[in-house]
Amino acid sequence: MREKSAICIAGGGSTFTPGIVLMLVENQDRFPISKITLYDNNAERQDKLAEACAIMLKEKAPEIEFNWTTDPETAFTGIDFVMAHIRVGLYAMRELDEKIPLKYGVVGQETCGPGGMAYGMRSIGPVIEILDYMEKYSPNAWMLNYSNPAAIVAEATRRLRPGHRIINICDMPVGLETNMCSIIKDETGRELTRNDMEIRYYGLNHFGWWTQIQDKEGNDLMPILKKHISEMGYANNSPEFQHRDPSWVETYTKAKDVYALDPETVPNTYLKYYLYPDFVVEHSDPNYTRANEVMDGREKTVFGQAKAIVENGTSKGNEFAVGVHASFIVDLACALKFNTHERMLLIVPNEGAIENFDPTAMVEIPCLVGSNGPEPLKIGDIPTFQRGLMTEQVCVEKLVVEAWIEHSYQKMWQAITLSKTVPSGKVAKQILDELIEANKDFWPELK
Ligand code: NAD
Ligand code: G6P
Ligand code: MN
Repeated sequence: MREKSAICIAGGGSTFTPGIVLMLVENQDRFPISKITLYDNNAERQDKLAEACAIMLKEKAPEIEFNWTTDPETAFTGIDFVMAHIRVGLYAMRELDEKIPLKYGVVGQETCGPGGMAYGMRSIGPVIEILDYMEKYSPNAWMLNYSNPAAIVAEATRRLRPGHRIINICDMPVGLETNMCSIIKDETGRELTRNDMEIRYYGLNHFGWWTQIQDKEGNDLMPILKKHISEMGYANNSPEFQHRDPSWVETYTKAKDVYALDPETVPNTYLKYYLYPDFVVEHSDPNYTRANEVMDGREKTVFGQAKAIVENGTSKGNEFAVGVHASFIVDLACALKFNTHERMLLIVPNEGAIENFDPTAMVEIPCLVGSNGPEPLKIGDIPTFQRGLMTEQVCVEKLVVEAWIEHSYQKMWQAITLSKTVPSGKVAKQILDELIEANKDFWPELK
């Protein structure tokens, strides 16, 4: 019998919380749980989902103790893992992150460009606050963080809380690998799962490339994938459900043009924002962005289901959806808890893994994960194209963190100007000044 873990989900009111809770229930055989506590700083939002989760858990896993709270001591005492997915400023601020840059003809996106930097300036303080609660109440616990923007959060925690037990993760490669399996099925009829593939990948978060994708027997799957991607990107007949909205289908399709720039590798979809920003802006509606799509879609669906469960007094007929990142999170928790040495793609300090790249950069690369944490695999040298793009982007991320630490207007202006998505210092300043006004309740005061 495996030892049980106590879990805190930080950002209990997240649209992803019910899916994570359900996923934990479904994985009791390999990752048994004694207790789940939801923690949020917005009691009203969290209550709505927690009451539904309580009903669901009573039906599916009554042996798991379940609580929810806004009190840090209650949330973080006696726990083994914090699964963190907070969104500082909620969708209202995401909407501004997307719409303010678009006013100036610049990409408006949750984690890329000026919007992602604005979100980073909001997220750093609260993620560190949670790490400090963990240090105080459960110093041996691991934080599995997927609060965005993960790249900036990772750099900030590297700088400000070195040595803390935080691992930053992303579900985009997981989602794309799931899609690759459906592409292989469409193209060849062969049924694979993500775990049947052995991959090599390097980059930054939301900024990377696969260099190898093969099956367990060592057969190269890249040629089939490259043929498909060169014709229609990642679009295919059965994409995983989390990325099925029209804007995601457009992003998946655009990977065709991202791939064309370097046919040696297979790209992360997020590169479209840096390599084709003009296309992205032309195809954006400045009055209705992804934040609106999510508020009208996922948020309404999840909170509607929760309401129905509470009204009906049962979760029967209202099953929550489990996202693509769910199994990945359990794999990671198992690797840490049971020392499995599973190979996983994580955001970790480079420290020489990519030889010709800044050793202090937070990079997304395969690692072996055991109870002492991740051990990165060696990548070696990367080509000039990727190194140039990554050098610029990692400096943007570092400048944002420096701006937050030093309360520096100058560094934030430099960060926005340096981004590949922004045409000039003039436009950067206009966007920055408007972002400062919009974020005055969240950012440190810049001088
Ligand atoms: P959401 O707004 O539905 O949920 C976020 C929750 O965090 C809210 O209930 C909010 O009140 C809470 N919160 C905000 N600040 C907090 C704080 N200081 N302390 C505690 N709780 C706080 O958002 P969502 O769309 O469900 O996304 C949640 C997060 O997960 C976002 O950061 C999103 O970008 C991230 N995400 C990351 C990945 C990845 O690949 N890393 C994948 C999916 C989602
Ligand atoms: C992907 C990324 C996440 C990001 C999410 C946005 O899964 O890996 O980091 O938060 O997309 O999805 P949404 O549906 O909120 O636009
Ligand atoms: Mn991500």
